[in-house]
Amino acid sequence: MPGVIRLLALLLASAHGLHNATQRTFQIDYHHNRFLKDGQPFRYISGSIHYFRVPRFYWKDRLLKMKMVGLNAIQTYVAWTFHELQPGQYNFSGDHDVEHFIQLAHELGLLVILRPGPYICAEWDMGGLPA
Ligand SMILES: *[C@@H]1O[C@H](CO)[C@@H](O)[C@H](O)[C@H]1NC(C)=O
Ligand SMILES: *[C@@H]1O[C@H](CO)[C@@H](O)[C@H](O)[C@H]1NC(C)=O
Repeated sequence: MPGVIRLLALLLASAHGLHNATQRTFQIDYHHNRFLKDGQPFRYISGSIHYFRVPRFYWKDRLLKMKMVGLNAIQTYVAWTFHELQPGQYNFSGDHDVEHFIQLAHELGLLVILRPGPYICAEWDMGGLPA
């Protein structure tokens, strides 16, 4: 079921959805083996791009390229080690501005599968948990 959980995060993270959350629906149509988004058959084609591995200057360019190859969704983690370098001191500006990254994706018509962590993967020290 992790895919479904990611998809739910996707729908919740969509900036449009935030403005109109009561109007949005997501269902699993088990009978036809498909998802329904706002009542319509829905398939997402997603690729991963991790904002914290790409300088902010390139975010729009990279997202546009992902859109142009046919994706309708992107996936990113939130790496907390990147945002909380010192205990209790957070950075969400500049290259750390994940909100701006998500907004850019929305403006380009891409849905976002947001994986907020705090554990994100084994590639990062302690899985991305702040030291
Ligand atoms: C909210 O959803 C309704 C129905 O889908 C739509 O008519 C309306 O324009 C939406 N509002 C916003 C602010 O997106
Ligand atoms: C936050 O990170 C940006 C780089 O993305 C840096 O320019 C800025 O100085 C940092 N802010 C703090 C308070 O550390």
